[in-house]
Amino acid sequence: MTSAIPTAILADLLDFTGDPGLGDRTSPAVRFRPGHWLLIGADGRIAAVQPDAPGDDWRKLDRRGQLLLPGFIDTHVHCPQVDVIASWGAELLDWLNTYTFPAEARHADPAVAQAAAELFLDALLAHGSTAAVVFPTVHPASCEALFGAAQARGMRLIAGKVLMDRHAPDDLRDDVVQAERDCTALIERWHGRGRIACAVTPRFAATSTPAQLAMAGRLLANHPGLYMQTHVAENRAEVAWIAELFPEARSYLDVYARHGLLNERAVLAHGIWLDDIDRALMHDRGAQIAFCPSSNLFLGSGLFGWQQAAAAGVNVSLASDVGGGTSLSMHRTMADGYKVQALAGNRLTAWALLHAATRGAAQALRLGDEIGSLEPGAMADLCLWDYAVGAVAQRRDSLTRELHERLFAWLTLGDERNLAETWIAGVRRFARA
Ligand code: GUN
Ligand code: ZN
Repeated sequence: MTSAIPTAILADLLDFTGDPGLGDRTSPAVRFRPGHWLLIGADGRIAAVQPDAPGDDWRKLDRRGQLLLPGFIDTHVHCPQVDVIASWGAELLDWLNTYTFPAEARHADPAVAQAAAELFLDALLAHGSTAAVVFPTVHPASCEALFGAAQARGMRLIAGKVLMDRHAPDDLRDDVVQAERDCTALIERWHGRGRIACAVTPRFAATSTPAQLAMAGRLLANHPGLYMQTHVAENRAEVAWIAELFPEARSYLDVYARHGLLNERAVLAHGIWLDDIDRALMHDRGAQIAFCPSSNLFLGSGLFGWQQAAAAGVNVSLASDVGGGTSLSMHRTMADGYKVQALAGNRLTAWALLHAATRGAAQALRLGDEIGSLEPGAMADLCLWDYAVGAVAQRRDSLTRELHERLFAWLTLGDERNLAETWIAGVRRFARA
């Protein structure tokens, strides 16, 4: 890992000091500091933010007129599914069988997994995501490759070997005993090493036997600080299938609760078809929902009720869910999130969306001191963005009258083409050609 050179960057700084809520355009939790210097120490952490240039012992970078934000956090994304992004004509269960499982089977070859991990993480950086919660495949080597590649880039990454011991092709199934051994070895080798954390990763309740879910619960009970990631209540046919497989459970979410899988580090993707009792349970356990709007639209899964989740006090973050989702760009994810909520009559502010993609996700992951803000002491995981790229966005930007209007146009019209630079722990890891 390269160590940081003490560096000061002059730009328009934007982050959050609290939760801006869903609909308040003038929230005091928004912290905008135009034309300020952000100082990065040799330890790769933010040292200070100030209006004046620092002394001669700082390397100075003048990025006036660009927006500097904490890097985005993609809380649910599948590394091997870059190969099936934008696959036509299916909904969840046939999409898995037709496209996804065959692609994931190729990752049995460690060389394929290694190349995929490198391409995937470089792509995240080139889209402005500096931290992620990731599904590799069932193969332990695919998780190993992802951790190694993240460590080489200094990235905050949460992942785990996918668990699936039924309802999957032969070459993608594990078994309880071997899976427990593989997970334990990965945890001992990687959990808490640098910026890597392990997540117990049952793909979804349909692809794990009750015995495997119980094993997953044991791992969580025996290793404090482990994350849990899975899918829940994404698609109506899926929900009906889970009810058949687990007739004793009150709901889909209850399957996970019964196996000891819901903790404050649990990240559950989708949660479209949850009910009030489920939402109360999510809140009680401190678990979060990763809202994946582009995936939900593309696979025709349904419209997530953010307002109901927020009313129940459930943490909600934003995620691309590539390859069900159609872009790694959190701009596109936020813009799709806005449209999904608009269909329910709920107009989210740019602040609600940006917060969910930065500080909100960091806090829900219990990593608020490390990522998601420009607070001194946090890691310097940063992105520099152009306000507008292209004639239409530039024209719109030139007519904006206040900050919310400007940032809303930016997130709606922008994408990875707006990204100028990505920094991880004070080291520049992406620069636009
Ligand atoms: N449910 C189980 N596996 C998957 C997956 O790979 N993608 C999505 N979107 N949902 C799932
Ligand atoms: Zn997913």
